[in-house]
Amino acid sequence: MRNPSDIPRVRLDRIDAIYIEDDVTLEALRDISFSVEDGEFVALVGPSGSGKSTLLDIIAGLYAPAGGDVILDGETLPTPARLGASSYMHQRDLLLPWRSALDNAALALEVHGVPRKQARQRALERFDEFGLAGFEDAYPAQLSGGMRQRVAFLRTVLAERPLLLLDEPFGALDALSRVVLQSWLLDLWERERQAVLLVTHDVDEAVSMADRVVVLSARPGQITHIETIDLPRPRTRDMLTSETFHRHRVALLRALGLLDQPQEALIASEVALA
Ligand SMILES: Nc1ncnc2c1ncn2[C@@H]1O[C@H](COP(=O)(O)OP(=O)(O)OP(=O)(O)O)[C@@H](O)[C@H]1O
Ligand SMILES: [Mg+2]
Repeated sequence: MRNPSDIPRVRLDRIDAIYIEDDVTLEALRDISFSVEDGEFVALVGPSGSGKSTLLDIIAGLYAPAGGDVILDGETLPTPARLGASSYMHQRDLLLPWRSALDNAALALEVHGVPRKQARQRALERFDEFGLAGFEDAYPAQLSGGMRQRVAFLRTVLAERPLLLLDEPFGALDALSRVVLQSWLLDLWERERQAVLLVTHDVDEAVSMADRVVVLSARPGQITHIETIDLPRPRTRDMLTSETFHRHRVALLRALGLLDQPQEALIASEVALA
């Protein structure tokens, strides 16, 4: 599954996207070009409605761009042909309430034609690693929010594609659970090193996890900035208080238009104190 590292896992070349509803055309994305390299962790941030989920749908082959190319492992693939090439955790990745945690996780393999018994076995093998041991037979309603996210994530990872598309995987969680799951995801990624494209609203999450952060403007989403994160791996919680972290954070908040002068001065003074 691995490719020579100089070929990006995915390259987006001048992607435009529109939605047409009742004869009204809505421009969602304009002229989006960037790559995710083999083993790279890229975060995508932008305001609500900037087209982040649309972009993941396009890469996954679920939606056709109005213009531009998606190049996977060096090959320009048309929209339906991209289906199944990446592992995709949707923003609203709901577990099926009538299936147990184990059966929900196994679903990713079943839809790829793995027989049910084998799919369950392979999912079971990873329950411990995902902190889900003992909850195989629990139904989604019996799991905590963090556990449900992990089942959904396990289902995504089990598909074993070299490109992982994650749309706000921790979006619905409280701050503490987010932090725990972020470091857990980073640990997993350090071991597996797939190419990751992670959508998040949270600038701190983007800086603490990613190698690069792509910033989209409000609709139509256009790239306004790409920030290369200059923090060593493995990332530690201590880095959150470093001057480098704050520098990236300020740059991203500014690119998102979220800094006015007084706040900027405040953050600058925090950096000076850190
Ligand atoms: N199926 C659809 N039909 C029509 N318009 C859509 C459709 N899906 C998305 N849109 C519109 O396209 C724009 C981009 O939506 P998208 O969901 O990609 O944004 P997003 O950046 O993921 O937002 P959020 O951060 O809220 O998840 C929005 O204006 C949205 O209303
Ligand atoms: Mg979205």
